[in-house]
Amino acid sequence: LTRAEAARALLGGRGRVPVREAGHAFAPVNIALVKYWGKRDDALNLPVTDSLSIALAGIGTRTTVSRHEGPDRVTLNGEPLAADTAFAQRLSRYLDLVRAHPRAGYQVDTRNDVPTGAGLASSASGFAALTRALDQLHGWNLAPSALSILARLGSGSAARSVADGFVRWRAGTRDDGMDSYGEPLAARLEDLRIGLLTVSADEKALGSTPAMARTRATSPLYAAWPGLVESDLRQADAAIAAGDFHALGRVAEANALAMHATCIAARPAVLFLLPASLAAMQAVWRLRAEGMPVYFTIDAGPNLKLLTLAQNVAALGTAIPGLRIVAPFA
Ligand code: PMV
Repeated sequence: LTRAEAARALLGGRGRVPVREAGHAFAPVNIALVKYWGKRDDALNLPVTDSLSIALAGIGTRTTVSRHEGPDRVTLNGEPLAADTAFAQRLSRYLDLVRAHPRAGYQVDTRNDVPTGAGLASSASGFAALTRALDQLHGWNLAPSALSILARLGSGSAARSVADGFVRWRAGTRDDGMDSYGEPLAARLEDLRIGLLTVSADEKALGSTPAMARTRATSPLYAAWPGLVESDLRQADAAIAAGDFHALGRVAEANALAMHATCIAARPAVLFLLPASLAAMQAVWRLRAEGMPVYFTIDAGPNLKLLTLAQNVAALGTAIPGLRIVAPFA
């Protein structure tokens, strides 16, 4: 299936004509605790494995979309973007999946709470917010699973940004991807806090799609990855069910390190970490050795996301200045 065919299958007979002036939506950033790394279908963003994330409550993307005749117009954080920017082109290719005819343009105004393209999953919240806004504009009333599938066609990890709290993205087995979507877990961990540590807000040099493809094709360690994810997911599920913060932190940190190790072993190497990332990782290990409940995870960029507990937030903020703390279940 192509992306256009998948979108058509999903939307069925639903109209491509607005039923209101504009659609407005919010979607949260999600941080993977057990990572998605590797696609079994590049066009449809179908993953090799399941993955598990936590949504960051009020931190994410706010998007307004309306229709106009002519080329798409995109603003990012209030700034109009030239149509030839990579960001605007990626949005337009996604809008191609839903527009009524080639000249049916959209005006998209999107605001991110986090730096764009710096490994803080802005594409996930961005495509999830845009999908919800389009659903509202056209009055589709898509089911949660269908919203997740449509968002996934924009960015894989967006499949998980359509719900709050812990979300499991099931890889599915179908070639058309209709069983590959994110589902929220009922369990909560009220005291969990996520600390965002921005080491560098620069755009990453290598996007996650080519990085995944190179890792899967050339890293001798990739063969071990799917099995590792399976056992890490089992451990993470058990930790969440038991409300065991430390067990969840341990498996999240180990899974992130395994993902980066697999990437580093690619030929040529895929390395997202900077010297400052390593220094921050070692600071976390020092604090933990002193008894502080803190773990880290790192996505396809140099920045760290720290997992800690509510009662530890003040002490952690003193030890690591510049943290932005989020309460995912608040
Ligand atoms: O959805 P993408 O292409 O931005 O890939 C996300 C990949 C990671 O953030 C590194 C892992 C994940 O599961 O989110």
